[in-house]
Amino acid sequence: MKIIAFILLIFASGIVAANPFPTGNAQTGKALFDKNKCNSCHEQMVGDGGNAIFTRAKRKVHNPAEMFAQLNMCSANTGVTLSAQQEQDIGAYLNKYYKFK
Ligand code: HEC
Repeated sequence: MKIIAFILLIFASGIVAANPFPTGNAQTGKALFDKNKCNSCHEQMVGDGGNAIFTRAKRKVHNPAEMFAQLNMCSANTGVTLSAQQEQDIGAYLNKYYKFK
């Protein structure tokens, strides 16, 4: 019995680790992204609506930790303070470009 429980635990923790933004809601993230006009600067930098900044060859963000750091910088530039939950939401949304596992 203990062994089965152990194996289940490993599977369960694997699932948690497989989601880089476990409590994020991508739809809420998209709404926050639009509301805060996140792409207004990015558009000026890379054109094409701004989303290309997330897929550019030399992109800055390579893991969730760097994502949170960048979100703090960008939201400070915007004069917005994102809660930890909102960072999860935006992370979940932007992960359609980054595809962190
Ligand atoms: C005042 C201008 C400005 C605003 C507004 C802004 N950003 Fe940014 N953002 C930047 C700049 C400049 C960079 C590039 C930083 C670099 O190259 O070091 C960037 C880069 C990023 C990146 C990393 C792209 C990469 O290279 O991987 C993410 C993610 C990001 N922004 C998210 C956001 C989000 C989410 C918001 C809205 C809350 C936002 N930004 C609003 C200026 C802005």
